Parts: sequence; structure tokens; C-alpha cells
Amino acid sequence: MKSEVMLYEGKAKQIYATDNEKVVLMKYKDDATAFDGLKKGVINNKGIVNNRVSNLLFKLLENEGIETHLIEQIDDRNVLVKNLKIIPVEVVVRNVVAGSLAKRIGEEEGLTLSSTIIELYYKDDELHDPMINEYHARVMGWATDEQLKELHAQAHKINDILKAFYDSIGIILVDFKLEFGLYEGRVILGDEISPDTCRLWDKESLEKLDKDRFRRDLGKEEEAYQEVVQRIEKALA
Ligand code: TMP
Ligand code: ASP
Repeated sequence: MKSEVMLYEGKAKQIYATDNEKVVLMKYKDDATAFDGLKKGVINNKGIVNNRVSNLLFKLLENEGIETHLIEQIDDRNVLVKNLKIIPVEVVVRNVVAGSLAKRIGEEEGLTLSSTIIELYYKDDELHDPMINEYHARVMGWATDEQLKELHAQAHKINDILKAFYDSIGIILVDFKLEFGLYEGRVILGDEISPDTCRLWDKESLEKLDKDRFRRDLGKEEEAYQEVVQRIEKALA
């Protein structure tokens, strides 16, 4: 079913063609990068954890009425997904101040926001994914008005579902990044939701259980990723 034709290679995944043009195979790698590829490394078994975590969370979202690209996990690193035309607008959802928001507004990390903040970034590595607003997206033709409304509505709904789920397994969903794409005219959720693309803090100890361990040289990356997948599997698998 998988062909040898690699359509795309990103920093953490490869995409292969299949014999059905509406379906592609996504392969998760252990490679880790940060700061637009300036920092490079490997987190052992990260690809296996992210494949599992993302597929379990996408199933949870599907059960709650969110359409995702997930079709079927093939093995520990490979998953079949719908072939989306990716909308080049990354959607970041924030519940707690951290990362670039802390820097931008001069606040300490850890402040719980009174309500959710949604930010948009233009997906372009050469430009380092600059922050944009809805005007940029609309005027430049990256997304229509209707699609932007859909991105916001889905991002809020996904946040409500995932925040409650993570809370139930003792984890604070601090923030995360989503990517959407078009499939048969519909805007649906693509890419991955994993410890690479979320900030996840243990509710009791506030220990970081995500890629910030790698970005900030905190060590024990592999253990943190395993902790997340084990808690999720216990609750969902
Ligand atoms: P930020 O605070 O660095 O802007 O990151 C916000 C969230 O988005 C955080 O959960 C990590 C995620 N993220 C990605 O998934 N990919 C990226 O390239 C960046 C910069 C952030
Ligand atoms: N994934 C991005 C990179 O490789 C940034 C990040 O996750 O921090 O640069």
C-alpha cells in the first residue's frame, strides 16, 4: 500500500504516497529540533510515543465530533491519514502563560489566563513562522474568512476536550499548536498533537512533560514522553 515515493520530509515526520491519492502514510522520526532547526538532537522512541499519543487523542476528538485526518495506525511509527491540502496557518491555543507569550507580554510563566488565547502563525520555515493576524491570512489568501471562523471554532472545541482529558490524568494543558487542512472541501484537523506540539505540566509537581525538556536542556526527555503516553494509554487504550 505504501509506495517508496516520499512526498515530503519535515523535521519530525516523513510523508509517503500510497496507491490511493486521497491517502498518505505519515512516518514519525525520533529526530528533535528546536529554534527553527538551530538545535538538533534525537529523543529515543519519540516517534513511537508521538504516533501513539496523537492517534489516541485524535480518536478521542473524533468521538467528540471533531473530524481529523486519522485513518488507521499501521505500526509503531506509521499511520495512514487523509491527504490534506494544508492551510499554511498554525493555530496556537494557550491556557497558561509560557514560552513566547511570556516573553512577548513580559509575564512570568505559569500565570493561568482568565480565558483562552488563540494566536495565528504563518507556516513558513524561511521566515521562522512569524505571528500574523486574520487580516494577513485573509488578504494574502492563506485562508478565507469562513475557514478562519472554522479554525477558531474547532480550536476552542479541541481545547475544551483536551484540557478536560489531560486534567483527568493529572496534567495541565498549558498550550499547544494545531494545523488544519482542506479535504473534500471541509476544514479538518491534521498534523499531530503530541508532547512535541504541546506544553504539558504535571498538575502536582509542575514538572515539564514535553519538548521543553529538549529545548531547555532539562534532561530526561525520553522519560517524560513515556510518562505522557503511559498516562494516556491507561485512560484511553
Ligand atoms: P511558543 O510559546 O514557543 O510560541 O509555543 C506555543 C506552543 O506551540 C507550544 O505548545 C509548542 C508549540 N509549538 C510547535 O508545536 N511548533 C513550533 O514550531 C513552535 C514554535 C511551537
Ligand atoms: N519544531 C520547531 C523547530 O524545529 C520549533 C520548536 O518546536 O521549538 O525549530
